[in-house]
Amino acid sequence: MTKILKINGLGKTYSSGSKQLTVLQNISFDVQRGQTFSIVGPSGSGKTTLLGLAAGLDTPSAGTVELCGYDLNTLNEDERAQLRNKNVGFIFQDFQLLPTLTALENVSVPLELQGAKNAVARAKELLQKVGLANRIHHYPSQLSGGEQQRVAVARAFSNNPAILFADEPTGNLDEETGSKVIQLLFDLNEEAGTTLVMITHDLDLAAKTQQILRLKGGKILTNEATVNI
Ligand SMILES: Nc1ncnc2c1ncn2[C@@H]1O[C@H](COP(=O)(O)OP(=O)(O)OP(=O)(O)O)[C@@H](O)[C@H]1O
Ligand SMILES: [Mg+2]
Repeated sequence: MTKILKINGLGKTYSSGSKQLTVLQNISFDVQRGQTFSIVGPSGSGKTTLLGLAAGLDTPSAGTVELCGYDLNTLNEDERAQLRNKNVGFIFQDFQLLPTLTALENVSVPLELQGAKNAVARAKELLQKVGLANRIHHYPSQLSGGEQQRVAVARAFSNNPAILFADEPTGNLDEETGSKVIQLLFDLNEEAGTTLVMITHDLDLAAKTQQILRLKGGKILTNEATVNI
């Protein structure tokens, strides 16, 4: 198996004034191509920070991230963005939809920017998959939290990513919609071989992934394969 993500000695320290706040320390782990991988841990333990570093959205204070064979420290911001456009999907904890674009445009515009010819048709198809066929012309402010989350899921799928990072993808969804979204993520993993790295507070969901990384206070507590029942 090849490694799609290799994290070695990763650290992140924020400085505010004269104070230094270390939020991640000496984090090392690998994710195999095609694997389903979950990250769990208490609020504030560094999960979102870690996901942002792994996807090249943020730069570390120490250590290295190798994503799809590229050492992110050796790439500039534009090159990291290109790598993300081609290979990475990201579902943010706070969705990060663009408020001036409709649901349809939030999914289709990034595709158009990447030069896709059938962007609108593909966006419609994805929004239908997440159960939003009758909401495509709504702006984010006209959507419920769960609906916004589903638009974010559709957007993350749009470029057929090799690796999908999801920060609490079901955090704002009711049980039924949540399990539909999770099913979509696992289907994508099965059908397209998309590697799935997700943060969750739901331990039942984490147990459905192949590997669970447990963080506490910015450090790795455990990194264990789950037992397949
Ligand atoms: N830009 C920043 N400047 C300073 N501190 C930050 C910054 N971003 C995050 N932190 C701190 O880093 C720590 C880890 O934050 P992070 O968002 O990674 O936690 P988390 O594990 O995702 O928590 P949650 O489960 O609540 O989403 C927190 O204590 C937070 O206050
Ligand atoms: Mg978080």
